[in-house]
Amino acid sequence: MIRSVVLSAGKSLPRRLVKNAELEGVIETSDAWIVQRTGIRQRYIAADDETTASLGEAAARAALDAAGLTVDDIDLIVLATSTPNNTFPATAVEIQERLGMRHGFAFDMQAVCSGFVYAINTADLYLRGGMAKRAIVIGSETFSRILDWEDRSTCVLFGDGAGAVILEAQEGEGTIGDRGILAASLRSDGSHREKLYVDGGPSTTRTVGVLRMEGREVFKHAVGMITDVVVSVFEQAGITADDIDWFVPHQANKRIIDASAKKLGIADEKVVITVDQHGNTSAASVPLALCEGVETGRIKKGDLVLLEAMGGGFTWGAVLVRW
Ligand code: UT7
Repeated sequence: MIRSVVLSAGKSLPRRLVKNAELEGVIETSDAWIVQRTGIRQRYIAADDETTASLGEAAARAALDAAGLTVDDIDLIVLATSTPNNTFPATAVEIQERLGMRHGFAFDMQAVCSGFVYAINTADLYLRGGMAKRAIVIGSETFSRILDWEDRSTCVLFGDGAGAVILEAQEGEGTIGDRGILAASLRSDGSHREKLYVDGGPSTTRTVGVLRMEGREVFKHAVGMITDVVVSVFEQAGITADDIDWFVPHQANKRIIDASAKKLGIADEKVVITVDQHGNTSAASVPLALCEGVETGRIKKGDLVLLEAMGGGFTWGAVLVRW
């Protein structure tokens, strides 16, 4: 059977690093509060010339370089983002153009913080369905553009950045020993949409709007939702938490990550944490963390890697990959 095998990962971060202490001068907050409640120590903030498209392009180029490929080898780009350069066309086609790719197809996916998990699952279906041979799956965000910088309960949490992976359709045995994407579970429930949303849009206010979140409400649902989809993936694959080599969760809050790992029985040393360095980069957080895991030599060929995310919608999902 065909499996979508991950060939490489790449990332791109804005030039400007903003530590918690710098925010103390902007709003009423403290490094101690942010670290204790979220685990975040710093985030990167995009300058005007750094956009979702430019960061996504750079992450895609890094992933292509790491795989030793060029855009000629790629026939699909899926970009997960909630902060597109324009309402339309899709930022994915702008990245396609920036990469100099004149064939294949490219589109955006919007599932907020779960965007990358949705996007890698979508690309997997195109590859397994035979419509594409190799895909770049990107998560790229400039959430700093949609933050209310006077709302301390949200503006300290998010950062900008992009991560990307290259998937290739390869023949597998159809067993859990195969490399590639082995199982996935996606969920959404729109009844929660007002707990985390942007208060503008083309069809309602004709503005871009800013992020609004009932943080405590999101927190309350997060661990249960994450564990449900992970358990579903474990059941599909016939594995347990002990079989996992690396847990690469969405990086929103260290307390959510710790509680999810504990509930699932995943040992602390198997968890890849980047929320301290990047803050919550929404759809970019999982590929940024994957890239970090690879670059630091932790995630290696053959490792069983569990991805999960949860965010606005609510949307949530998990994907199991043998690297
Ligand atoms: O990626 C999408 C998914 N999003 C998430 O997963 C976010 C989920 N939620 C969270 O991570 C947490 O709920 C937060 C980090 C947003 C907040 O942590 P919390 O422990 O739930 O704090 P809280 O909202 O209950 O606020 C506690 C106190 C409040 O003061 P009072 O009412 O107790 O006097 C807030 O006003 O902390 C205050 N506060 C702050 N203080 C200093 C809120 N923001 C700040 C701040 N600095 N930046």
